[in-house]
Parts: sequence; C-alpha cells; structure tokens
Amino acid sequence: MKAILLAGGSGSRLYPLTQVSSKQLQAVYDKPMVYYPLTVLIASGIKDICVITTPSDLHRYQKLLGNGSQWGVSIVYREQPKPEGIAQAFLIAADFVGTDGVILMLGDNIFSGGDDFRRAVGGFMEGAVIFAYHVKDPERYGVVEFDKDGKAISIEEKPSKPKSNYAVPGVYIYDNSVLEIAKKIKPSPRGELEITDINQEYLKHNRLQVWRLSRGFAWLDAGTSSALHEASAYIGTIERRQGVKIGCPEEAALVRGFLSIVQFEALVESMPRCEYSEYLRGVANEWHRLQALP
Ligand code: DAU
Repeated sequence: MKAILLAGGSGSRLYPLTQVSSKQLQAVYDKPMVYYPLTVLIASGIKDICVITTPSDLHRYQKLLGNGSQWGVSIVYREQPKPEGIAQAFLIAADFVGTDGVILMLGDNIFSGGDDFRRAVGGFMEGAVIFAYHVKDPERYGVVEFDKDGKAISIEEKPSKPKSNYAVPGVYIYDNSVLEIAKKIKPSPRGELEITDINQEYLKHNRLQVWRLSRGFAWLDAGTSSALHEASAYIGTIERRQGVKIGCPEEAALVRGFLSIVQFEALVESMPRCEYSEYLRGVANEWHRLQALP
C-alpha cells in the first residue's frame, strides 16, 4: 500500500500566518502540523509516501521531511500548481501509485488516540474504506448517512441540511481502481475534483466501507487561527499529562521496526538539545529497559 500526503491549498483561512509558510507547516503545539498525519502513516506501516504540495512550498517540505530515510521510509514529491481539488491527487500521483492500493491523508488532519487506521490498513483488501466521526457541525464536511443497520447509504459534500452528524475525516483508503475513477469525475460547482464524488462512486457500486471512529478518538481541526490554537492546547494538555508525544515520526518508526535502536539513537544524537530530543532519549531508554526485562 502506498500513501499520498496532500499538503497543498492556499491556506487562506489562516492568513496572515500562511503568507510566508504553508498551512500544514504551522506549529501544532511542539511540531509542524504535517508531522501528525505523517506519523499516522508510519504507525500504519506505510513505507512509500508521496507528498503533494504547491510549487512555492515544495522546497520547504523537502527541507523538513527530506527523502524519509531518517525514518526508514521513502518520501517523494509532486507539485499541484493550483488547488483544483483533493481528488486531483490521484491524477498527479498516478505514476507513483502504479498498480498498488493507496491511502490518501490530508496534511491538515490531526488525530489522537486509537489504532483504527493501522487496523484498517492492515485488514484492507479491496474497494474503499473511509471513516466517520461524530461532530457538532457536520455541514462543514463530507457527511455520511447510515441506515438502521449501520450501513452507509449516502455521502454528501458540505450539505446545508446534513442527514447525520457523521463527518468524513481526511483519511481515505482505496484499491487501485481509484486511479480510473479519478479520471472520470468532473469538477464540482466550486471548481474542484471532489473526494466525495470518488466515495459516492464506490458507494454506488457497493464497494465502500465506512468505519465509525469511537468516542475516545480525537479528530482535531486546524482550519482557522482559533481552531489551530485549540488543537495546540489539546495536544499540549495530553502530552504534558501523559508524558508521551502525539505525532512523533521517529518514535512511530522505532515502534514499527522501520528504524533499529542504533539508527534511532544516531538520529536523536544528530538533533539539537531540546525538549523534543530529550523526549526521544527517554523513548530509547525505555526501549533498553524493556529489552533487559527477563
Ligand atoms: O477535513 C476533512 C474534509 O476535507 C472532508 O470531510 C471533506 O469531505 C473534504 O472535501 C475536505 O473538506 P475541506 O473543504 O475542508 O477541504 P479543504 O479545501 O480545506 O482541503 C483540505 C486539505 O487539502 C487542506 O490541507 C488543503 C489540501 N488541499 C485542498 C485542495 C482543495 C490541497 O492540497 N489541494 C487542493 O486542491
């Protein structure tokens, strides 16, 4: 399974923060926003990642994420010159996806808790898997309607009268037929190739599974300055309380076995002395302690 991490768009709702840097590079508490979805991918066992961003932001992502080898993964890059829709990702990265299945992650979606994505990727066979999360303001999202047996029966993009409170987060798992479907869909009235149109196509052919995320799971929005601040405060609260970090690609790579402990410790040594590297030293110490147990 390959992954596309979509980190383009204009970020206009975060103006003036996005004047000189892309939305998905803004800080969410102690790390760049894109670290959170990237960590979900690594924790789900994905090794081949394509980052799509704007031509002007590309070099910043390359500087931050490199070729991924520091985390034992491969990261390649593609440009999206204009924000012509989320589903355009499949046209831009078709050569990267090749004949594989693909998980699409939006670079501004922040998740905390649960291992639903890892389990969904691990058990994926064919068709499509998307997720549903109960929210107060579903009209801002793709919205799924369920019948009384819990089966998804409709999906609408930002409906003015939502048929449920279940919004679709920015994580989508597809088999390879998504490449053909993406070629056929037409731009919506807002001029975008809509990801919801792709999901509707899978639903129409009874090939869509919608996985409801549990209440304990947090899906945070960072779309406006106040939401960004709230997301930072949430992550900070959990991290300080638990003493574990959320969205830490190094730790996920060690846990997944993408990095050996020797590689992990060398990576940590190359970092400046700061809270982040101190935390990773603690992770290494804990790893050694567990190994020494009888
Ligand atoms: O966050 C989940 C929601 O994302 C879904 O529930 C909706 O169904 C889906 O359409 C999308 O809704 P938004 O209108 O909130 O998407 P937005 O335009 O804000 O774009 C989401 C991210 O994707 C954002 O980080 C920018 C990036 N993006 C977006 C577009 C349209 C691109 O990189 N390129 C694009 O062309």
